[in-house]
Amino acid sequence: MRLPQVIALGGSLLRPEESENRKTWFGKLRQLAVHIEGNSRKLGIVVGGGLPAREGIELASNLISDSDRLDEVGIAATRINATIIQQILIDIGCNVAPSIPHNTVDAAQYFDQYNIVVMGGTTPGHTTDAVAISLARDCGARDCIIATNVSHIFDKDPKVSEDAKPFVEMTIYELIELIGTDRMKPGQSAVVDPIAVGLAEKSQINIAVLDGRDIDLIESALDGKEFEGTLVRS
Ligand code: UTP
Repeated sequence: MRLPQVIALGGSLLRPEESENRKTWFGKLRQLAVHIEGNSRKLGIVVGGGLPAREGIELASNLISDSDRLDEVGIAATRINATIIQQILIDIGCNVAPSIPHNTVDAAQYFDQYNIVVMGGTTPGHTTDAVAISLARDCGARDCIIATNVSHIFDKDPKVSEDAKPFVEMTIYELIELIGTDRMKPGQSAVVDPIAVGLAEKSQINIAVLDGRDIDLIESALDGKEFEGTLVRS
């Protein structure tokens, strides 16, 4: 049997600007799940918190300063988004785990019974990128896809620097040098979570970073084809 594959779906992908895009994106995600199941493959989907996470953390941060407590608010939001994805896939008859696992060991075990496992966050101190890497590790996978809302990892923030250059391929050590190893603040955004990168280095997991607004890119990467994005080799 083939090993499960794992993707981290950034929470921002669930709420694109245009509501028409939203319907198309969810429709294509459903087609992708059917394609995976049709080929007797298994898929772990780790969903980020996006807007509800940021809003919830901002609201709570008026009264709470403890990072772990604010992270718990973010985790709750990731599980709402995970439930949305889980239910839209169950609705078309995919063989999806009926509950949202709260840790990656349980999630990996669900693959004995189900083709698709959807989950959100686990514990404070990291983002769902790190959960996806942990799930890949616990499933014995060598690769993990991080689907976000930028096309590549860049050498500088492309929103700030017009001359920012995208990486097509880089080593995990180059990425660590670029982004450091520090824990992110609750709700903080970054192209990849440094904690996730540290885990990937330790477990020798390659990371594919790509623009998840285009489901075709996710499908290409899952199918082992060339994809537009950044491949980080561990
Ligand atoms: P996300 O994984 O959604 O962070 O977690 P993100 O990188 O902003 O991803 P997008 O924007 O959805 O793509 C949101 C917050 O939830 C907490 C953290 O505070 C994180 O910033 N969190 C999430 C945890 O503490 N642990 C987890 O396992 C997951």
